[in-house]
Amino acid sequence: MRYLFRPPATEAAGLLTLPWHQPLEEWDPDILLEVPQRGISRHVVRFTTQNGHVYALKEIAEHLARHEYALLGQFEEEGLPAVAALGICVDRPGGQDAILVTRYLEYSMSYRFLFSRPTGDHSAEQLLDTMVVLLVRLHLAGVFWGDCSLSNTLFRLDAGAFAAYLVDAETSERHEQLSPGQRHYDVDLARERVGAELLDLQFGGLLPADVDPIEVADSLPVRYDALWDEVTREEVFALEEQRYRVTERLQRLNDLGFDVGEIELVTTPEGARLRVETRVAEPGHNRRELFRLTGLEVQERQARRLLNDLRAYRASLEQKTGATVPDTIAGYRWLAEAYQPVVEAIPPDLAGRLAPAEVFHEILEHRWFLSEQAGHDVGTTAAARSYFETVLPRTPRELTTPSAIVGSRD
Ligand SMILES: Nc1ncnc2c1ncn2[C@@H]1O[C@H](COP(=O)(O)OP(=O)(O)OP(=O)(O)O)[C@@H](O)[C@H]1O
Ligand SMILES: [Mg+2]
Repeated sequence: MRYLFRPPATEAAGLLTLPWHQPLEEWDPDILLEVPQRGISRHVVRFTTQNGHVYALKEIAEHLARHEYALLGQFEEEGLPAVAALGICVDRPGGQDAILVTRYLEYSMSYRFLFSRPTGDHSAEQLLDTMVVLLVRLHLAGVFWGDCSLSNTLFRLDAGAFAAYLVDAETSERHEQLSPGQRHYDVDLARERVGAELLDLQFGGLLPADVDPIEVADSLPVRYDALWDEVTREEVFALEEQRYRVTERLQRLNDLGFDVGEIELVTTPEGARLRVETRVAEPGHNRRELFRLTGLEVQERQARRLLNDLRAYRASLEQKTGATVPDTIAGYRWLAEAYQPVVEAIPPDLAGRLAPAEVFHEILEHRWFLSEQAGHDVGTTAAARSYFETVLPRTPRELTTPSAIVGSRD
């Protein structure tokens, strides 16, 4: 057998003890993890854990495994939202298929899981819009997905909104640039697959009665075209409008979840022409800033939310002491005095339902809600207590991450 693993090598060493010579289907359930409500899949896919990390294993033909491993590696380097490939195992005995190992995307949810949630605080349209953002991002990067579907997308909560990740790149192709024909073909494949998946949900009684699967699927190309146009179009406007039109365009792109690279503005006496380079990588400005100040690794919108809280905390410190508090001190104190105490107070039986940063975000929302009711600021501690008693228990018991049971396994 031959193994190919990306660093860190310490992780690979642990994985090498797994029974790679056996068909994945026959692996001892004791070394596997149950992950609920996954999408529809053709291959044998299993989950396992080593030293606190969770991995997904997929048995596929060697050339596909190598292709997917290489592509996912590129996506990771470029900051495209996709699962990260850790390695492959090929040349298994008896001419068995290869196995591709990816990192389990923590706190991710499949569409089936989302539709089986009793709270139903999401809609099919919302999921579709999130998926369209992912597809546009891939297309901007010259990636033809070839298999865009709800099953091949994972969803994560990011400060109350959804973010979508690619989970299956077997059929993907990399090009310098995609032609409109290639893009539309990809979108059409997605429309068909999403239609079939929604019909399947409806058949299983999981789709709300007012959702028409075909109507929703047919809206996908429309949503895609609108977003593609928004992120790529050249704008022409009168010179005197220049300033606000540029600001407005950049703001709109940011709101849609895109970072902007270079902008090109050509002015002539007749008017101005604006071209904007949209970055394909997920926006990361707030994420990097929060990491610099606190060492926390969270998603972008969560990071923005946490940074706002950090700034408010710093302002109150400065008000109390009458002195300027440097950045890094403020970061450290906020982490130790505001963030950690809340995260550590999550009742053990409710841990693992949501990412800690998402819990913190929800508590800030809850604080705002309670404060408005009370007519004064109730503070984070009281808000957290109330949230743990009344809100968090309503998040479904099914795991959105297996890490909650990893502790008891390792
Ligand atoms: N790294 C991962 N993190 C979380 N979930 C994963 C991961 N890899 C796979 N899954 C889950 O397993 C399911 C199946 O995986 P995947 O889509 O890669 O294989 P497949 O469906 O058999 O391939 P195909 O789409 O060609 O049939 C996904 O829909 C997803 O729910
Ligand atoms: Mg799949």
